[in-house]
Amino acid sequence: MKILVLNGSPHRQGNTAAMVGAFVDGAAESGHEVTVVNVCQKKIAGCLACEYCHTKGEGKCIQQDDMQEVYPVLEEAEMIVLASPVYYHSFTGQLQCAINRIYALDKPKNLKKAALILSSGSDHVYCGAIYEYQNSFLNYLKLEDMGIFSAYGKQNQSEEKLNELREFGRSLKG
Ligand SMILES: Cc1cc2nc3c(=O)[nH]c(=O)nc-3n(C[C@H](O)[C@H](O)[C@H](O)COP(=O)(O)O)c2cc1C
Repeated sequence: MKILVLNGSPHRQGNTAAMVGAFVDGAAESGHEVTVVNVCQKKIAGCLACEYCHTKGEGKCIQQDDMQEVYPVLEEAEMIVLASPVYYHSFTGQLQCAINRIYALDKPKNLKKAALILSSGSDHVYCGAIYEYQNSFLNYLKLEDMGIFSAYGKQNQSEEKLNELREFGRSLKG
C-alpha cells in the first residue's frame, strides 16, 4: 500500500521524527511504500480560499509552492498519516497549512485509511488534534482509522513507544 506521512515537526531528529521513523521501518518491512514529507522543510503556504481549485483550476491549486510536489503523492496514497508535535493543543501551523491545502483535491481519490501520531510535553493535550483528525479525516474524508499513537514526556523516544510504532507499521495489511 502507498502511504503518505505528513510530518509537522520542525525537528529533523526530534520526538515526532523518531515515531515516524519507527513506523516507516515497520511498514517497509511489510512491503509498504512510504513517503514522508517533512512539511517544515518545505514552503507550504496556507489556503487562500480563492476557490480557483473548485472553478477554473479544476482541482489544481493556484499557489506554486512545494505543495505542488505533495499533491501527486496524495492522489496516489491509500493511507495518510498525520504526525505532529502538539503545539497549543493542536497540530503545528506548518502541518495545518498542508492539511488545509488538501481542499483543492476535495477527497484524494485513492485515500481509504488514516492514522495519527502525536508527541507532546504533557499528557491530556491531544483533544484538539484528535477532534480535527476524527471530524475532518475520518468523518468528512470517510477514512478508516488505523490508530492513534501519542507520546508525552519520558515516553518520547522510549524503546517501548518506538516498538509500538514499528509493530503498528508492520501490522498494516493491504
Ligand atoms: C510552540 C510550542 C507549543 C507547544 N505546545 C504544547 C502544548 O500545548 N502541550 C504540550 O504538552 N506540549 C507542547 N509543546 C511541547 C512539544 O509538543 C513537545 O516538546 C514535543 O515532544 C516536540 O516534538 P518534536 O521533538 O518532534 O519537535 C509545545 C512546544 C512548542 C515549541
